Amino acid sequence: MKPLPYGRQEITDADVEAVVEALRSDLITQGPRIEEFEEAMAGYLASRHTVALSSGTAALHAAAFAAGLGPGQEAITTPITFAASANCARYLGADVRFVDIDPATWNLDTEAAAAAVSDRTRLIVPVSYAGLPVDLRPLRGVRDRLTVIEDGCHALGGHRDGVRVGGAGGADMTAFSFHPVKSMTTGEGGLVSTEDPELARRVALFRTHGITREDIGPGPDDGDWYYEMQALGFNYRITDVQCALGLSQLRRLDSWVERRNRVAARYRELLAGEERIELPPAAPEGSLHGYHLFPVKIRDGPTARKRAFEALRAAGIGVQVHYIPVFRLPYWRDEMAAPQDECPHAQELYSGLISLPMFPGLTDADVERVVTELDQALGARSKIQ
Ligand SMILES: Cc1ncc(COP(=O)(O)O)c(C=O)c1O
Repeated sequence: MKPLPYGRQEITDADVEAVVEALRSDLITQGPRIEEFEEAMAGYLASRHTVALSSGTAALHAAAFAAGLGPGQEAITTPITFAASANCARYLGADVRFVDIDPATWNLDTEAAAAAVSDRTRLIVPVSYAGLPVDLRPLRGVRDRLTVIEDGCHALGGHRDGVRVGGAGGADMTAFSFHPVKSMTTGEGGLVSTEDPELARRVALFRTHGITREDIGPGPDDGDWYYEMQALGFNYRITDVQCALGLSQLRRLDSWVERRNRVAARYRELLAGEERIELPPAAPEGSLHGYHLFPVKIRDGPTARKRAFEALRAAGIGVQVHYIPVFRLPYWRDEMAAPQDECPHAQELYSGLISLPMFPGLTDADVERVVTELDQALGARSKIQ
């Protein structure tokens, strides 16, 4: 039996040709395809400004910089996420407060997050975990006091009531990742979308060492060579070659998200009535799940989860656990002294979490194989007829 990863990219001949063409051009790093990709993404998201960067982590870091985050301030995020959602605040010297998830959505409990806002809170990073668009409405009352960066790394292609994650009317900024297991890929890569031109300018500045030639009057060294370093930025640039791949991939993004939703529907059908498993929360009526992941919760807890994890891995099925609550990671636990006894819903969810394979190339037969192996590992009767 062929091994099944938990996620994988789709690369077509058209992608390869687009990359080869970019490689044969004169500008393989800062060429015209970067702006072309940014414009195409802005069109897709229906967002005014997009800035492409070298990774989703760089996108979050640049967005947190653009928000003006600094030492002495605090960011709020969910513990059930990849570490980068919290790390972006630490990079800027800010503290992080982890607020529990809503057990009905597995996303940050945005009502609790709004209630936890203090004088020090400057940023909230809600994550659309697994691809389910996080409910931003409870944050309305605090948005004049702070910045909301949606971590949309799992949710590209999803929408809330017809408004795409990352589109106008969402968070102040939305960060995406184009890592190969995500909805589409540029190899490594990321993007920030926003309606605010000043935030976009600051993200772009941060991407290039804080250096700019734009919007600067005649300087002391008045000549065409003149540039300014206005802030301490990084080299977070994406390349022309990566954007060639992104432009080509974007054409098939919607069909992949649709296929991810069909894979999820098949898992739900096959696992319906399986009492030992809690299925991931579905998108509300009128919204679309991005399904970067298909995590399920094994109700019997950590021992049953470990057994299932090991049995599926032994059967060549690449399950993963997304995620160990971030505050339990040694850096956050030991160096940052993050409280270990908070966020009971996150702790409870983690105790049984396991991500089943989810990618557009997964066949119905693959899905059935995963469910059969899972049933066997749990000692339950297979649902497959
Ligand atoms: C929720 C979340 N945020 C941020 C990132 C970081 O993205 P990247 O790997 O492109 O740096 C990831 C990627 O794994 C992610 O899953």
